[in-house]
Amino acid sequence: MRKKVFLTRTLHDFALKELKKKYQIEIHRGKIPIPQTKLRSKIKDVDGLICFPYDTINKETIDLAKNLKVISTYSVGFDHIDTKYAKEKKIRVGYTPEVLTDATADLAFSLLLDSLRRISEGDRIIRNGKWKVIYGAHDYIGLDLQNKTLGILGLGRIGQTLAKRAKAFDMRIIYHNRNRISKSKEKSLGVKYVSFERLISHSDIISIHVPHTKETDKMFNTKIFRKMKNTSFLVNTSRGRVINEKDLVTALKKKIIAGAGLDVFEQEPIGKNHPLVKLQNVVLAPHIGSSTKETRTKMAEITVKNLNLGMNEKKPIYSVGY
Ligand code: DGY
Repeated sequence: MRKKVFLTRTLHDFALKELKKKYQIEIHRGKIPIPQTKLRSKIKDVDGLICFPYDTINKETIDLAKNLKVISTYSVGFDHIDTKYAKEKKIRVGYTPEVLTDATADLAFSLLLDSLRRISEGDRIIRNGKWKVIYGAHDYIGLDLQNKTLGILGLGRIGQTLAKRAKAFDMRIIYHNRNRISKSKEKSLGVKYVSFERLISHSDIISIHVPHTKETDKMFNTKIFRKMKNTSFLVNTSRGRVINEKDLVTALKKKIIAGAGLDVFEQEPIGKNHPLVKLQNVVLAPHIGSSTKETRTKMAEITVKNLNLGMNEKKPIYSVGY
């Protein structure tokens, strides 16, 4: 009997072909993210699971799995998986960092650039037939990037790569991180370490690159927005739940902050009636941080490799703890 692998969404053809050579596979084709009831009924007798962000794999779900050896997530984030409990149950967890660093940093920088130069807003103006004045001295005025202060919260791989982009645009870069990086690394990246409070109050743009954890849950809320400059922008490509969305909507409406560029949301997908969609001072993207042809292909390769290793009781190439 072939071992069973369940996928909560489909993957690239080459990846499915590879999986089919070795395993009996089943792919969830319905609602995304997969409803918990279906995930729980499927996880019971599979040996391997390929999952995606927003598929909740908590203790209760893991407890139902009788044969599960490995969970391989097609993402760098693994906040949707109770990795501690998986480890206790000797279930390996694989993920896909590194290969998506450039793509995600590019997207964060695009949101920053779009927010400051109002590209998406201009696109809407043209599509809605509202472009009337040509080259008006005061129309569609954005902001220069040069000499603006970018505050990077979380200077891991993606944060550091974003810093390189920003340096090339002559921005000033400050950062806050759990651990300060080495002085030589700070020098080569052109970044300055500051306290969280200083980052919040001195940045013209804050870009969030911390994972969603109990500590970071809704860490951006009214209290923090009030400490930010009212001319400042917030960019988020990490996880939506790091921001209290309701508070953000109020801050944007009341111009407590100037704007936001968002790739991630508390609940995804957001619909056209979501309050953020009604605001002009927000640039929205449908969680596409890693969505480039090249990056997504590499992620699929690693997802399969991680799964194969776990199925053979070996540590995945990129493994969370075990
Ligand atoms: C991930 O892989 O976790 C990111 O959300 C990609 O955008």
